Amino acid sequence: MAKKELRLHAVVAPTQTVVVSAYDPDGKADACTLAFYMVSSHVPPCVTIAINATQKRKTLRDILETKAFVLGFPSADQVGEADYLGVESGYSTDKLKNIGFTVSEARTVHAPVINELLLSLECEVVHTVTVGSHTQITGEVKNILADESILNDRGRILLDRLRPLIYDEEQMEYLALGGKVSDAFRPGAERKKSFDGERAHM
Ligand SMILES: Cc1cc2nc3c(=O)[nH]c(=O)nc-3n(C[C@H](O)[C@H](O)[C@H](O)COP(=O)(O)O)c2cc1C
Repeated sequence: MAKKELRLHAVVAPTQTVVVSAYDPDGKADACTLAFYMVSSHVPPCVTIAINATQKRKTLRDILETKAFVLGFPSADQVGEADYLGVESGYSTDKLKNIGFTVSEARTVHAPVINELLLSLECEVVHTVTVGSHTQITGEVKNILADESILNDRGRILLDRLRPLIYDEEQMEYLALGGKVSDAFRPGAERKKSFDGERAHM
């Protein structure tokens, strides 16, 4: 296989597109779109986002001020709304109002939930660190709000109903999820079993 060394850049293809929302000091809600997002702890459940600290992002200022945010997951059919929240600043205009999104106060933290998003995580800031251009903010998830339409009868989230919006930084485009490839942990466990068996016979 021929390999090529690439220009240094943060390879983030693909990531899930999320919308982070927060209140400013006057209690006005703002939100922006992020691709730099990851799950960072199971227990307690935590997520980490990274927001550019070298440019004026209103949501970054607001999150650091209020120590809270809500992480919302836009669906593929909300691509226009999500993209708009990522190309305009809350310093210039009321983005949420312009795009027709409404908010409710989160139950567990001082941050706005965007009612039109099907899945939202209410988060309390527990850690921040700035690495290079971005401030990483870890939020402990205090509440998960899911629209009933995306849940199965055991209350588990169905991704084919949520239709998460995938961001491809390499091509600068949005994608939808493809189909299932395999059960997780099974093909690996089968290989492990057969290698363990081979070792036992050595
Ligand atoms: C698809 C997409 C992904 C983005 N990801 C990030 C990100 O991870 N971190 C970041 O700081 N900005 C990201 N942005 C840019 C911000 O959303 C944008 O600068 C926004 O206008 C900031 O708004 P605010 O000033 O209201 O906070 C992204 C934009 C788009 C369209």
